[in-house]
Amino acid sequence: MAEVVIVRDQEEAGRLAAAAIARRLAVTENPVLGVATGSTPESTYRALAAAGQRLTGVTAFALDEYVGLPAGHPESYRAVLERELVAPLGMDPDMLRTPDASPEGLHDTGERYEAAIREAGGVDVQILGIGTDGHIGFNEPGSSLASRTRIKTLTQQTREDNARFFDSVDDVPIHCVTQGLGTIRDARHLVLLAFGEGKAEAVAAAVEGPVSSGVPGSLIQLHPSVTVLVDEAAGSRLAHADYYRLAYANKPSWQAL
Ligand code: PGA
Repeated sequence: MAEVVIVRDQEEAGRLAAAAIARRLAVTENPVLGVATGSTPESTYRALAAAGQRLTGVTAFALDEYVGLPAGHPESYRAVLERELVAPLGMDPDMLRTPDASPEGLHDTGERYEAAIREAGGVDVQILGIGTDGHIGFNEPGSSLASRTRIKTLTQQTREDNARFFDSVDDVPIHCVTQGLGTIRDARHLVLLAFGEGKAEAVAAAVEGPVSSGVPGSLIQLHPSVTVLVDEAAGSRLAHADYYRLAYANKPSWQAL
């Protein structure tokens, strides 16, 4: 099962995630990091920067990208990651890979992205948020657990959740290119973070509910190496919270996060 750690706040989660990432990158040749966007991973990127971590020599693959935004749009995930990851962590911008969502590239964007991940040796650590509807990446409910990188239609819920980054919900694209659930499952380690009451139901369903395409986040139950970092609010619907606290309080020193 996933290691579930209930932390005080986003900053503590960010520090734990950053430490776990740094440890894995340090022992990996040509490391590959899977990166997420949205509010959730921000404290992890801040903590990596605060720890003086440089991502020189690291290749990063984004989970997803909007379709239909003009190149260089500040809310395109490429632009977000250039601001929040590449610049503060000293990454080579050419080593940040995002799915090609240009009109010319869409027809085979999924195949090309999958090939690029394979050629880089696969993702060592994948950072994940979870949507209020249970999505990971932009794999909305109903996504095949075996899906690969492809074009998806966003749910109205996701567009409303992401409207805060745009002038209005109508400006949020309807389509995206996202790594599939099968793609995410291939990463060697998953770190899923979630904060706030609004995520509580999705977190409980993903961690403890049945494995189902209806809750794409439940894919984590099929993965042998997963860390889930949640604040009290996001963890408030977990039936086995006491057990997770007991396990973490008694975590053997040899067991890495
Ligand atoms: P958020 O989104 O980090 O902005 O809450 C998470 C997600 O949709 O995966």
